[in-house]
Amino acid sequence: MLIREANDADLDAIFAIYEREVLTGTATFDTETKSPAQRAEWLATHRSPRTPAIVAEVHGGVIAGWASLSPWSNRCAYARAAENSVYVHADHRGKGVGGALLDDLIARARRTGLGVILARVVEGNPASVTLHESRGFQTIGIMRRVGEKFGRILDVRLMDLHLDAAT
Ligand SMILES: CC(C)(COP(=O)(O)OP(=O)(O)OC[C@H]1O[C@@H](n2cnc3c(N)ncnc32)[C@H](O)[C@@H]1OP(=O)(O)O)[C@@H](O)C(=O)NCCC(=O)NCCS
Repeated sequence: MLIREANDADLDAIFAIYEREVLTGTATFDTETKSPAQRAEWLATHRSPRTPAIVAEVHGGVIAGWASLSPWSNRCAYARAAENSVYVHADHRGKGVGGALLDDLIARARRTGLGVILARVVEGNPASVTLHESRGFQTIGIMRRVGEKFGRILDVRLMDLHLDAAT
């Protein structure tokens, strides 16, 4: 498996994986697919070391999953915090792809001096909770009934990983 930075040629594969969750799942609270221009804009904002987008390429150049870091907030005092996203194609889950992507993201975050990575995980997603816990994330709270998708009101677990020595 090769983990590398995403580029324009990966956008179709990245959004094919993501849009399955947009349209049929609750892992993301996005409910609408992105236009080609919005996809390109997403990549343009995920090309800096602090907010990278990466892909996991398996045999034959197939994109098995992707991950990214995004600013937690556009308010400047939050600049030491970022939120992560990790999405693995259904055919490639349970084989270490998500773990490899998250390991790579954490290493990139450390190199840029980021202080904390936050993850928001919808209720009923044990794979994501286990994935994050296995990399040292801890649950810091449950945001109760903050989401609604497919007619269900949903809680969201907030998890954090501190990268600095102070915690
Ligand atoms: C969550 C997700 C990214 C995990 O990716 P994956 O490639 O299947 O995960 P891995 O095979 O690398 O496993 C990572 C860890 O999670 C655990 N895990 C994986 N699937 C699991 C499941 N269904 N139930 C419980 N634990 C699970 C593994 O045992 C592993 O733990 P370990 O490293 O201690 O052995 C993947 O299931 C996915 O894309 N789900 C839909 C999108 C999503 O929920 N994204 C996260 C949004 S917060």
